[in-house]
Amino acid sequence: MYAEPCEVRQTENVLKRRGVRRTLCLIALSFLAAISLAAIQPAFPSATADNQNDAAVPAPSAYAGDATCAECHATQARSYAATAHATDSSIATDRTILGDFDPQNAVLRTSNPSLAFVMLSTPEGFYQSAVNLSDPQHLNQTMKRFDIVVGSGRHGQTYLYWEGDQLFELPVSWWSYSHRWVDSPGYPDGVLHWQRAVQPRCLECHANYFTTTAMPNHYAKDSLVLGIGCERCHGPGALHASRERSASPPAPGSPKEAIINPAHLTRDQQIGLCTLCHAGQSPSIKPALTYIVGNNIKDFIEVSAPPADKPVDVHGNQVGALEQSKCFTSGKLTCSTCHNVHKTQEKADAFSGHCLECHKVTACGRYHLMGASIRGHCVDCHMPLGKSNAIKTATGLDQQQATFRSHRIAIYPDATLDPAEK
Ligand code: HEC
Ligand code: HEC
Ligand code: HEC
Ligand code: HEC
Ligand code: HEC
Ligand code: HEC
Ligand code: HEC
Repeated sequence: MYAEPCEVRQTENVLKRRGVRRTLCLIALSFLAAISLAAIQPAFPSATADNQNDAAVPAPSAYAGDATCAECHATQARSYAATAHATDSSIATDRTILGDFDPQNAVLRTSNPSLAFVMLSTPEGFYQSAVNLSDPQHLNQTMKRFDIVVGSGRHGQTYLYWEGDQLFELPVSWWSYSHRWVDSPGYPDGVLHWQRAVQPRCLECHANYFTTTAMPNHYAKDSLVLGIGCERCHGPGALHASRERSASPPAPGSPKEAIINPAHLTRDQQIGLCTLCHAGQSPSIKPALTYIVGNNIKDFIEVSAPPADKPVDVHGNQVGALEQSKCFTSGKLTCSTCHNVHKTQEKADAFSGHCLECHKVTACGRYHLMGASIRGHCVDCHMPLGKSNAIKTATGLDQQQATFRSHRIAIYPDATLDPAEK
């Protein structure tokens, strides 16, 4: 390469002339084009699709899409649009990527002195580039584009890139707690590696719709619909929409409405819907997107109890934890008792009101000591926040731990009110 690649210069800027932002020159693009595609051989052979199993993925035509639902269910649609579900995945833009591209902050050093990652914002798009900071002249490294954002950013975001019709995870993610770039979960620190394939199960939890063309990570690009939409929880709704539009729409509540309201299902079926995505590691038994709300979830994924005392990562098992609670085993609790998924989540103290749907304040063993001051703080002591060590930067920088709410509602004798939380 005749010229010094721009990202190295930008990296030097970052290191030497802090705060000086430089636009990436066009060489970056020719550099990008020059990168041999062979450098990123997929780690997996392209096997044949196993989508053609007994359980079928509904055709795209069975779905109406959120915009159609919004025409008649404006209340739910308006508030839903701001939720973490709705904004969970999106096309990468300066609006959707939360990560910091300021040159001062856009470098992730690794434990390997010859490997750092630089995040670049250019008029053509956003890129992650691997560079050798100790020898910037001998940069051989790869540069990949941010194509898709996964994560609304409550905990963090990770990013995906297309390589032909294959999807891979980028090696650097954004960690919201410490406002910094970190190694993507699953990528070893200090090793140049871009090949973490994005499997259908990942998109089943984080996207709305897609079709695979071959396993493990070949997709029909145009089929991908991002964000989690209404029909993931209500089933395909094209027929419902057309019947409701017809001259003689079905009576509300009749099966002819051809739409599923989870509230009318059994408790197991209701929990099953949330289990699809909220039971932690839960590998597929049947192909992604074949589960439809109301089906028996255990036919579709392997569900297991959360491991005791293991630190959770962002993929906690709320279902397994809740099922271990007496409120669940002897009560009528479902996820909807506390969560209205059409709205952005309430503050922690608001949840205590839901406890009082079944308990009296005076039922708490602490009431005689603390009186009514416990009101509004039930979850502080009975669903305490736990910290996770599962996400780390291996570069010795300070760490901010993620916090997660225990869904095992129980007596935690050591639990106290954290004044910081009041
Ligand atoms: C042309 C208008 C129209 C469209 C489009 C429409 N709905 Fe409905 N929907 C209705 C009406 C009317 C009812 C019955 C009255 C009610 O419950 O609000 C209904 C009922 C429902 C119910 C409750 C069913 C029950 O048994 O309690 C759900 C859930 C629902 N719709 C979801 C959706 C979803 C999801 C979409 C998009 C795929 C959608 N609707 C599109 C008009 C529509
Ligand atoms: C298709 C997969 C999927 C299904 C089904 C699903 N969720 Fe989620 N849920 C997610 C993902 C992914 C996130 C993380 C979103 C983010 O922050 O990027 C999430 C986040 C949440 C959050 C945190 C949101 C916030 O605003 O803090 C709650 C609460 C939640 N889900 C409850 C539920 C409940 C209750 C159900 C069942 C009625 C359910 N979810 C069904 C995938 C799903
Ligand atoms: C079984 C369903 C499931 C699978 C598979 C899954 N996730 Fe998640 N993911 C979730 C849920 C649910 C949450 C939110 C959990 C919470 O807040 O407790 C989440 C959280 C996240 C977050 C943090 C989101 C935020 O807003 O802070 C990221 C990033 C993420 N997942 C990326 C991925 C990637 C990338 C894959 C695949 C390589 C993947 N996940 C596989 C369900 C899943
Ligand atoms: C994460 C799952 C999930 C998503 C996504 C979702 N819903 Fe729902 N929806 C539910 C559940 C669960 C209920 C039943 C709530 C209850 O138990 O009262 C419900 C109930 C409804 C109802 C019945 C009336 C009511 O408000 O309870 C309508 C209408 C509805 N949803 C429309 C929508 C529309 C429109 C969208 C998209 C904008 C949507 N839902 C997205 C889970 C979901
Ligand atoms: C749907 C009803 C329901 C809701 C809502 C509910 N519980 Fe319970 N809870 C029960 C039942 C039933 C029991 C078992 C009988 C009892 O101890 O009262 C129970 C038991 C408990 C226990 C004793 C647990 C043990 O291991 O001995 C605690 C503590 C508790 N609940 C706290 C809470 C808190 C805090 C909330 C809100 C975050 C809550 N509950 C929400 C029904 C409920
Ligand atoms: C008794 C009330 C209650 C029930 C029932 C409940 N949750 Fe939660 N949930 C909470 C509280 C409280 C929080 C934390 C809110 C906060 O800290 O801001 C929470 C947070 C969450 C989050 C965000 C991740 C986190 O750790 O902060 C997810 C995801 C979630 N719940 C999913 C579920 C699912 C799925 C179910 C059903 C299996 C469920 N919840 C049942 C009270 C409840
Ligand atoms: C400061 C922490 C704290 C707060 C806040 C708190 N609890 Fe408790 N709670 C405890 C402890 C500790 C116990 C068990 C020891 C005892 O009996 O003194 C307990 C016991 C309980 C029990 C079981 C009683 C029994 O006889 O088995 C219930 C039910 C309960 N709490 C509900 C609630 C509800 C509802 C709220 C909110 C209005 C609440 N708690 C707020 C600490 C707390």
